[in-house]
Amino acid sequence: MSAEYQVQGNLAVISLNNPPVNGLGHATRQAIVQGISRAHEDAAVTAIIITGAGRAFSGGADIKEFNSPKAFAEPSLHTVISVLEDAEKPVIAAIHSVCMGGGLELALGCHYRIASPGAQIALPEVKLGILPGAGGTQRLPRAVGLETALNMIVSGNPVSSEKLAQTALFNQIAEGDLMTAATAFANQVAAVRPLPKVRDIRIDYPNYEAFLQFSRNTVKAMSGPFPAPLACVDAVAAAVSKKFDDGIQFERELFLKLVQTTESKALRHAFFAERAASKLPDVPDDTPVRTIKSVAVVGAGTMGGGIAMNFANAGIPVRILEMKQEALDKGLATIRKNYENTLKKGKLTQEKFDQRVALISGTLDYQEIAQADIVIEAVFEDMSVKQQVFQQLDAVMKPGAILASNTSTLDVDKIAAFTRRPQDVIGTHFFSPANVMKLLEIVRGKQTAKDVLATVLALSKKIRKTGVVSGVCDGFIGNRMIEQYSRQAGYLLEEGCTPEQVDKAVEKLGFAMGPFRMGDLAGNDIGWYIRKRRYVEKPHIVYSKTADLLCEMGRFGQKTGAGWYDYKPGDRKPYPSAVVNEMIVKHSADIGVERRKISDQEITERLIYALVNEAAYILEEGIANRASDIDMVYLTGYGFPLHTGGPMFYADTVGLSNVVRAMEKYAKGRHGEAWKPAPLLAKLAAEGKTFN
Ligand code: 3HC
Ligand code: NAI
Repeated sequence: MSAEYQVQGNLAVISLNNPPVNGLGHATRQAIVQGISRAHEDAAVTAIIITGAGRAFSGGADIKEFNSPKAFAEPSLHTVISVLEDAEKPVIAAIHSVCMGGGLELALGCHYRIASPGAQIALPEVKLGILPGAGGTQRLPRAVGLETALNMIVSGNPVSSEKLAQTALFNQIAEGDLMTAATAFANQVAAVRPLPKVRDIRIDYPNYEAFLQFSRNTVKAMSGPFPAPLACVDAVAAAVSKKFDDGIQFERELFLKLVQTTESKALRHAFFAERAASKLPDVPDDTPVRTIKSVAVVGAGTMGGGIAMNFANAGIPVRILEMKQEALDKGLATIRKNYENTLKKGKLTQEKFDQRVALISGTLDYQEIAQADIVIEAVFEDMSVKQQVFQQLDAVMKPGAILASNTSTLDVDKIAAFTRRPQDVIGTHFFSPANVMKLLEIVRGKQTAKDVLATVLALSKKIRKTGVVSGVCDGFIGNRMIEQYSRQAGYLLEEGCTPEQVDKAVEKLGFAMGPFRMGDLAGNDIGWYIRKRRYVEKPHIVYSKTADLLCEMGRFGQKTGAGWYDYKPGDRKPYPSAVVNEMIVKHSADIGVERRKISDQEITERLIYALVNEAAYILEEGIANRASDIDMVYLTGYGFPLHTGGPMFYADTVGLSNVVRAMEKYAKGRHGEAWKPAPLLAKLAAEGKTFN
């Protein structure tokens, strides 16, 4: 049942009941209208309370219905809200926990609203690339004032109910039990007429035009490729400049336009993709998890320090183990400095600073980490070092402790085999800087136990990461794909591009950084090291030699003050480098390639389709569980533009047959073998299907 109707004394109670968050899907909307009608027909009922069963009042329109005709089927949310607003008996919204989007719009259509303290109030539609489409942009400014409403609608961020207690949004913040307070309130107002309506409130803001123009300018500068934020300002402007019904009509037109945009479809895809990523087909939600109250990290280098900070930020004590006192001191000092910088920027209180610093300690002795619930290894990327560490961990760690490796390329099954408890071993691949980047690739070994997976997935949420599970293969999901992208980037240099031309082409599309700026940031020596290994292991793969030549020049990137670009001391801004460009042109001549002018379209297609083709193999091999997991990896770990929804969603949008056609064209060029479509891609394209 999607909403329950009950009569309690002289009050009708309509309880939204559409788990998990009482989304206002078609059936729920129907049930509300039926409830109101029953309450009207029952002469004994003097007032109606609407509330939400379970964990929310309502999370808003049912986003899952957006792509189906049900979303617009009558009674629409508009109709439901009109039914409430025009009801002859008072309607009181009793709000707890979450009141968002269409849920808040529904509440704004009620005559009165009572909330529990701490309820999260928001119009988050902008985060889905749309705007509130059921009167929110017209009623919220009337209820809370123009500025507060504009901030809430443009940011989409929640505000707690107490903060809005003094506005016309709430008639009362309930002390104690919400339904008891709502019942007392309903009885108090049952006979009051006329019934108050938010739509009748006048917005009093004398110089509103200047304020709205200022807001428009600010929002325009910040919204990038997304049309929704500016549309939000326009809709709120209509609340002051137009009559209520005209404003509603204007909001509706904007909503219908936005909901069809690729940007909105991409954001909705990302919303569900993020939630789907934490679900594994064979690890049910009720799989028991191991308790994690303490963490150990082995290695206090670049990654170990950042990894430790994640846990301290979540209030979990961490002990870092190093080989030598000097390395340990250096690692701990770097962590402290990081926190100090955040403190100086005012992003951390002194109290939180003290707490976090106190949660991190160091040791050189394995016995001192033996009781940790999980240990994460972040030592050198070398199998013999990993072997030494895992054998030691196996010897000392308490039974049931989870043994995790942060390896970025090595075989987690081999690492597990160094222990007598491979079921407890898992990969936790953090991205640099580990305390900042959202992505956590969780690498499932052949023998990793289900409860270990469930525990690490839950832990990733606790430390606010997007956990995506990958099977074992060289580079896992993200780095295995990036290798194909980097190979194409190298070929493009040989064929006629400069690093800045390649970077600019993808950055124009919205990538956080092109491949060469990324290389300079991460360190070109890391890729060099990996390629050297691959030259031995996979001699059939052809790489452009430009990256090796660059490293032979000692140009490892920002850390050496020179890479694909030149850098000035203390400045991260890249300057095109004459020596590098010369090296590239000479290399083209040396290998007998005639340089040509290459279009931005060719650059972006070759880079992105190289990712997509490898991803299709990854999907087919079961390394990734679903296409949307691959999108999450790229959106949260590789700066792939959010408004495209990730590489797989992007390819779906372009049309897989168009992707294959472009690949066939590139197959006729140099290194054509790289463009053989993966069987899954070829099949889906031939059937006119999509990845997602
Ligand atoms: N519709 C359908 N399903 C929804 C939903 C919605 N509006 N909001 C959340 N869900 C689902 C999630 O997909 C997830 O499902 P799953 O368990 O099957 O994966 C489940 O609810 C729980 O979601 P979270 O994991 O996000 O749970 P949290 O407790 O962390 O957060 C929340 C709850 C704050 C409600 C968060 O889910 C959220 O922000 N939801 C989006 C709210 C939103 O954007 N509402 C606006 C909708 S658009 C609208 O109303 C248009 C109108 O203006 C016309
Ligand atoms: P790093 O060189 O900065 O740090 C490694 C640390 O481990 C050093 O402080 C070293 O003293 C310590 N160490 C080495 N052997 C040890 C041992 N036997 N016992 C205890 N401590 C030991 O290396 P970084 O960059 O932090 O990488 C660590 C791991 O994380 C590697 O597996 C790497 O592939 C992986 N990784 C690195 C990323 C990066 O961007 N740097 C990104 C994702 C994963």
